[in-house]
Amino acid sequence: MRALIVGCGYVGLELGRQWVTQGVSVSGVRRSEVGAAELLESGIRVVVGDVTQPESMTAWGREWDIVVNAVSSSRGGVDVYRQVYGVGTRNLVGWMREAGVRRYVHLSSTSVYGQTDGGWVTEDSPADPLPETGQVLAATERWILGEATGDLAPTILRVAGIYGPGRGHALQQLLKGEARIQGDGTRWVNMVHRDDVASAIRAVAGASVETVGGKVFNVVDDEPVQQGEFVTWLAREYGLPIPPSATEEENAARKRGLTHKRVDHRRLREATGWAPAYRSFREGYARVSGSRSG
Ligand SMILES: NC(=O)c1ccc[n+]([C@@H]2O[C@H](COP(=O)([O-])OP(=O)(O)OC[C@H]3O[C@@H](n4cnc5c(N)ncnc54)[C@H](OP(=O)(O)O)[C@@H]3O)[C@@H](O)[C@H]2O)c1
Repeated sequence: MRALIVGCGYVGLELGRQWVTQGVSVSGVRRSEVGAAELLESGIRVVVGDVTQPESMTAWGREWDIVVNAVSSSRGGVDVYRQVYGVGTRNLVGWMREAGVRRYVHLSSTSVYGQTDGGWVTEDSPADPLPETGQVLAATERWILGEATGDLAPTILRVAGIYGPGRGHALQQLLKGEARIQGDGTRWVNMVHRDDVASAIRAVAGASVETVGGKVFNVVDDEPVQQGEFVTWLAREYGLPIPPSATEEENAARKRGLTHKRVDHRRLREATGWAPAYRSFREGYARVSGSRSG
């Protein structure tokens, strides 16, 4: 199998590593040669290009069995979202059609669910978020499912908050003494370990088009956790003080667009047999021999 990972960053690199181990021929797209070394070290070929610049795709070649779009906004605002997810996805789909690509995995986000009632959401729940960034993601998904079907057999993965080696916002906040218990601490948080995002993409790639083509799947671990319980557990695990409650001003500043929901992943499990290796934050954040890397 020949796979192209467009946006070969935190998740893409791990996916590439897992695929290379399985004997898949993997190439990864970056916008520049910066970072090429870490791809090459992992046996991933480097392709340079930018999804917002269609002319940069002409040299990407053909005969890819699968293309994974793991491009991120690099923490940009709504304009970057429109460029990278809106325009970039359309450019990518245009190129894939010309290149005869038949399988496409598109990484989206559970931020498309705007629910605030603390209940469970499935892929059939409304995807109508308040923040404009989430709206761009949801509109891009609808465009893919409406316009980019047919030969392309797209699969959309709605990924929860990603953490893992070198990345974990809550732990970094805690280590800096900036973590807070938000509100009454009961807001649900949905997370998934980087390695499990990669294994979910592999599971989808390994499933038949009939099973996963034209479908949406949530990618999240087994156990949503309430924000207060999570930061309290983290503090105990890392031998740090339990964080204080946020002030009213901090809570008010954070409130707009905050969701409160529990994301269900049964559809992905049942369709592909995928299960997260890190079933919950406890396994994923377990302190390893004194390590404090977040
Ligand atoms: N992080 C989360 O918690 C989270 C949650 C839900 C969903 N997701 C989604 O999961 C996917 C992977 O996230 P990640 O954390 O692995 O992202 P990441 O580490 O930021 O990596 C994304 C990659 O995208 C590349 N990129 C950015 N703009 C590009 C462009 N215009 N053209 C081509 N490549 C571009 C970057 O490459 P260079 O900078 O090297 O050029 C980078 O390597 C993304 O689609 C993201 O939206 C993430």
